[in-house]
Formats: sequence, structure tokens, C-alpha cells
Amino acid sequence: METILNTAALTKHYGPITAVNGIDLHVERGSVYGILGPNGSGKTTTLGMLLGAIHPSSGSFSWFGKGTGDENRKRIGAILEHPIFYPYLSGAQNLRITARIKGVPEKDVDRVLQIVELSARKNSPAATYSLGMKQRMAIAAALLGDPEVLVLDEPTNGLDPQGIAEIRGLIREVAASGKTILIASHLLDEVEKVCTHVAVIKNGNLLAQGHVNEILGDEQLLEIASADPAGLKLQLEQLHCSVRSDESGLFLVGLPEGMDASSLNKKLVESGQAIHHLRVRKKKLEESFLEITA
Ligand SMILES: Nc1ncnc2c1ncn2[C@@H]1O[C@H](COP(=O)(O)OP(=O)(O)OP(=O)(O)O)[C@@H](O)[C@H]1O
Ligand SMILES: [Mg+2]
Repeated sequence: METILNTAALTKHYGPITAVNGIDLHVERGSVYGILGPNGSGKTTTLGMLLGAIHPSSGSFSWFGKGTGDENRKRIGAILEHPIFYPYLSGAQNLRITARIKGVPEKDVDRVLQIVELSARKNSPAATYSLGMKQRMAIAAALLGDPEVLVLDEPTNGLDPQGIAEIRGLIREVAASGKTILIASHLLDEVEKVCTHVAVIKNGNLLAQGHVNEILGDEQLLEIASADPAGLKLQLEQLHCSVRSDESGLFLVGLPEGMDASSLNKKLVESGQAIHHLRVRKKKLEESFLEITA
């Protein structure tokens, strides 16, 4: 796996406020990497530093293993904060201006308009665009020059469910074309729906990082208790279950592939275990997130 971005103890202080506190991120090529955290947790500040708009107080980062140099910037398309377009100019005219600023051939405008499905409205003034269309325009602008990496700060903020679904679909499409996407969001279900990886941050601190399923997974756990805990534990391990105890002494049991609660129960009873408690505890996403950010 090729590393696209690494940060090391990246930190930003604003006077007495520590907006970002020593964060180490690892983003691999082709991942859709969510930075998930509540309002004020430091997401925008982190992206701002990575895009060279905010100067870090300490720590470092490196794009493509090549440091922070400006030449990396061309390989990254970004939307930070609210995108601004000239309202009286059409979408296509706005994008041509952006293309010129980025040093990208103007013919790329039609390509990106097609990706975000704005070709039919490309000659209408930007002022007449809905919020969702404006957001798609912003993504189109970020896609100019066909960058390898897309950085998006809260791309569905303020949109209605239809607009949200469109943008998420678009992000998934762009991801499927092989691009690496870094996306900040305060919405758990957004990260769950579009991201492959997630970093959970709170008050500027990195709380967890990894595969979405690993970090936010809704793994099914069984609570099991018997009069013979030692024997039960041994038996469960022989059945290839993962076993740990919770604070009240119940075993929390993760099942191997192909086994469910009733088949496990049957096996335990057959082997003579007197089970007096068995309950399915589904670890919901929200629960994991709250656990992490609590
Ligand atoms: N220019 C600034 N001066 C002082 N404090 C700032 C500045 N920018 C951000 N902060 C503070 O840094 C912290 C992190 O802010 P940031 O905007 O990075 O959070 P966020 O996770 O993007 O939040 P949101 O979900 O609301 O967009 C907040 O406490 C914020 O008030
Ligand atoms: Mg923000």
C-alpha cells in the first residue's frame, strides 16, 4: 500500500486554544478517509494545515512522501469552507476562470461538468443554482486538472436529503475511479456510508483511526454466563470465539464466521455447559461513536 499522506504530531494552537493536538494520520492511496468529529473538534483546522492555508504550530506532515512543498498542491483538489463563484457568470465560465488560475487546460471544464452532472445547466448563471448544484460545482472545480487526491470539508452541509444523496453518490463515484479522498464530517452516518477509513477526533485529539468497520463496526456480541466460567471460557475458545469479560463479569463473545447465537448455544449445551444467561448485544454505530468520543 502506498502512503498518500502522513502527519506527525501535527498541532495548532490559537493563543490558549489548542485546536489540533499532536495528530498522527496515515492515509493510503485509494482510501476514502473520513475525519470524524463534533463541531469545533479541529477538522477544518487540520485540513487547512494540510492544504497550506494554516501554519502548524508544531509537528509535520508529508504528501506523497515528499513533504509540504507547493509542487504537491497540483496533485490535490480541495474545497475548504464555502466555495465562492461569480454569481452573474455561468457555471462553465466560472470553471474556466478556475481552470486558468490552476493552470489547467480549459477543455477540462467539460469533463468535470459531466462528472458532476451539471452539463445541462452549464450556461445558467451560478446565482440560479440550488445549494446542491453549487456544491457540485465546487467539486467540479476541485476535480479540474484531474488531481490524485480530493480534500472535502463537510461536503453535504446544509443540503436536503436529495442533495446529500447526490453528493455522496458523486463522492463514491470519484472514489471508484481510483482517487484518494479526504473528507471532514461531523456526521457519523456519512462517514459510515462513504468512507473506507476513519479518524475520530475530539477537542483536537485523535481518539481512534483505522478501517471504518474496525473503528465503527456494528459487530455482534453475545453476553454469556455460566456457573463454570473457566470451563465456559475454554469451551468458547475451542469453538474459535473471541472472549472478553465486561465489568459485571459477563463474557462478551464474538462469533466466528458461520456461527450464530443459537448454533453456539446448542454446542455449549451439548458439551454440558449450564448457560444461565445468553443475550445478543448488537454494538451499534452510534454506541461505538459515543464510546469513542465520551
Ligand atoms: N482563527 C481562529 N482563531 C481562534 N480559534 C480558532 C480559529 N479557528 C478555529 N479556532 C478554534 O479551533 C477549534 C477547532 O475549530 P475547527 O474549525 O477546526 O473545528 P471543526 O471540527 O472544523 O468544527 P465544525 O464541525 O464546526 O466545522 C475551535 O475551538 C475553534 O473555535
Ligand atoms: Mg469545520
